[in-house]
Amino acid sequence: MRVLGIETSCDETGIAVYDGARGLLAHAVYSQTEIHAEYGGVVPELASRDHVRKTLPLIRQVLDEAGLAKGELSGIAYTAGPGLIGALLVGAAIGRSLAWALGVPAIGVHHMEGHLLAPMLEEPAPEFPFIALLVSGGHTQLVEVTGVGRYRILGESLDDAAGEAFDKTAKILDLPYPGGPALARLAERGDPARYRFPRPMTDRPGLDFSFSGLKTFTLNCLREELARRPDPEQTRADIARAFEEAVVETLVIKCRRAVRETRCPRLVMAGGVSANRRLRERVERALAAEGARAYYPRPALCTDNGAMIAYAGWQRLRAGQVEPLAIVPRARWPMESLPPVA
Ligand code: KG4
Ligand code: ZN
Repeated sequence: MRVLGIETSCDETGIAVYDGARGLLAHAVYSQTEIHAEYGGVVPELASRDHVRKTLPLIRQVLDEAGLAKGELSGIAYTAGPGLIGALLVGAAIGRSLAWALGVPAIGVHHMEGHLLAPMLEEPAPEFPFIALLVSGGHTQLVEVTGVGRYRILGESLDDAAGEAFDKTAKILDLPYPGGPALARLAERGDPARYRFPRPMTDRPGLDFSFSGLKTFTLNCLREELARRPDPEQTRADIARAFEEAVVETLVIKCRRAVRETRCPRLVMAGGVSANRRLRERVERALAAEGARAYYPRPALCTDNGAMIAYAGWQRLRAGQVEPLAIVPRARWPMESLPPVA
């Protein structure tokens, strides 16, 4: 079975073809970063309009790269939520209509399920059960995964997601959008010994997170220091490093706790923040000390992409799940409500 994946939930148009026998045949991502950069964040209406422009040409490009004609597709998967409703609507309308025109089944994929299954596109793929740390711009969750569609949320952020905290803190530090990668780059030049920021909610039991206090802490620290210190550049780098250390260590503490509590020896990391090098290294080291193993996708499959949607769609389509003709994107959509795949 050969599935076309279409991702348009936010500011990236991602297209891919996944073949059940041959794996990922081709994938391409068009990022709208430049369009939104001057506004300092994603402008939903501009995002929708650009998906309208980019989706069909990108589908053609990916089919060419895979050496396939449209008629050789056996199913279409599109992101149905959660995300920006207008942006979702573009991919959903194109995906559903294309499937109808080609006479093949379509499936609306949950964006976070796409992220969660993305590590399975790599070698070696993790076996079920595993724990998933999902860290993106909109979500921070620890999930117990016993199969496709069998998800139990162990903990999640009570306020800002980890990626959102990176983005907001990057703004405080005057860094350009998208903030996460820019902050991580600035942190490279920072001295980890100069400041120690709090590790929120690690001193009590449980697997929930809270990151909104950290950005206020950063803001206050920056103001106080800039009022005193003569070297603002080094101060910004040191603060970026302290912030990154705090988020990374908080995530690591909770991952270790989740692995201990569930006695599950495998943990996958996915979502944009899992592209963070320091997070990968620290989680890997912490889990090794617990006798567990960490899995994560290549950086291009950590951030939004079509490959994860094609793969998640393939998993569901081959199990016989299909969408009716209605196009129903969902801005909010709890992952635990997804039907399991037998
Ligand atoms: O999964 P994703 O591409 O989109 C959503 O589903 O939200 O995640 C985007 C998030 C953004 O908040 C971005 O700043 C963050 O991932 N991010 C990073 C890094 N690369 C992307 N955060 C920290 N370090 C990175 N290297
Ligand atoms: Zn995402």
